[in-house]
Amino acid sequence: MDGAALAAKIRAEVATEVPQLGSVGLATVLVGDDPASEIYIRRKHEACREAGIEAYDHHLPAETSEDDLLRLVAELNADDSVDGILVQLPLPDHIDEGRVLRAVSPRKDVDGFHPASAGQLYLDEPTFVPATPLGIMALLEEYRVPLEGKRAVVIGRSTIVGKPAALLLLRANATVTVCHSRTADLAEHVGRADVLVAAVGKAGVVTKDMVRPGSAVIDVGMNRAEAGLCGDVDPDAAEVAGVITPVPGGVGPMTIAMLLRNTVKAANYRLGRLAFPGA
Ligand SMILES: NC(=O)c1ccc[n+]([C@@H]2O[C@H](COP(=O)([O-])OP(=O)(O)OC[C@H]3O[C@@H](n4cnc5c(N)ncnc54)[C@H](OP(=O)(O)O)[C@@H]3O)[C@@H](O)[C@H]2O)c1
Repeated sequence: MDGAALAAKIRAEVATEVPQLGSVGLATVLVGDDPASEIYIRRKHEACREAGIEAYDHHLPAETSEDDLLRLVAELNADDSVDGILVQLPLPDHIDEGRVLRAVSPRKDVDGFHPASAGQLYLDEPTFVPATPLGIMALLEEYRVPLEGKRAVVIGRSTIVGKPAALLLLRANATVTVCHSRTADLAEHVGRADVLVAAVGKAGVVTKDMVRPGSAVIDVGMNRAEAGLCGDVDPDAAEVAGVITPVPGGVGPMTIAMLLRNTVKAANYRLGRLAFPGA
C-alpha cells in the first residue's frame, strides 16, 4: 500500500477544496528547540503552503510559562483566521500537557487530542480524529480492503494511534481485538487477523510466520535501526500478506495529509457548512 501516492492525492484534493472556503488557516505552537519537533513543524508548514492553507508559526522559548502558553491558545481560539490549532508535543516538563490540550477549542482541535474529540469518537459521532488512525483507514479504503465482519487486530493501545484505530475499525463493522504489552499469545491473535495494525514502536514485534496469509498489514511503527527507519513488522512479511504498508512510505506520509483534511473540516465547521455536534 503506497502511502506516499495516496497522501499526494489527498493533498491535491485539499488544494482544490481550499479556494472554495475563502481562506483556511492552521496555527502551530512549538515550545522549545527540540530538533525533531522543529522538523515536524517545518513539514506541516510546507504541506499547508502547498495546499493553499495559511500556516501561522508560533515558536516560543523553552522557558515559556504555562500561563503564557494558555494565553496564546486562548487568543488563537478567538481568532477567526485560525481554523485549526496544533500544539506540538512533547511540551517542556514544567508545562501540564493535558491542561494545554484541554484549552484548545474542540472546534479547532485538528489533532483530535481534546477529550471532547475523543469522546465524540467514542460516541460514534466523530468530529476530529487523530491523523494517523485516519490515515490507516484511508489506506484500507483506497486498497478496498474489506472490513465488515472481518477480524481486525490492533497491537498498541495509545490514545493517539491504537485506541482510535480500534474504534474506527469497529465503526467499519470489523470484529476488533486490541493487543498490548501484557497480551498473552500475541502470535495467536495476529495469526487470526484479516487486518493487522501494528502500532508498538518496537522493530520485529511481528514476524513473517505470525502473519495470516493474504491478510492486510498496516505497519505504523517508526523505529530507528542501523540500516535506517524500520517498522514493527519484519519486511519479509510482505511475502505472505495480501497487502502491506512499507516503512518508510506507508502510514508516515498519510499523517500530514490527514492533518490537512482535518484543517479543512475545521473551516467547514467555522463556515457552518458542517454542523458541529451540540452546536
Ligand atoms: N507513521 C506515523 O505517522 C506515526 C504516528 C504516530 C506514531 N507512530 C509510531 O507508531 C508507534 C507507536 O506509537 P504510539 O504513540 O502509539 O506508542 P506508545 O504510546 O508507546 O504505545 C505503544 C503500545 O504498544 C504496546 N506494546 C509495547 N510493547 C509491546 C509488545 N511487546 N507486544 C505488544 N504490544 C506492545 C504498548 O502496550 P502497553 O499499553 O501495555 O504499554 C502500547 O499500548 C511508534 O513507533 C511511533 O513512532 C507513527
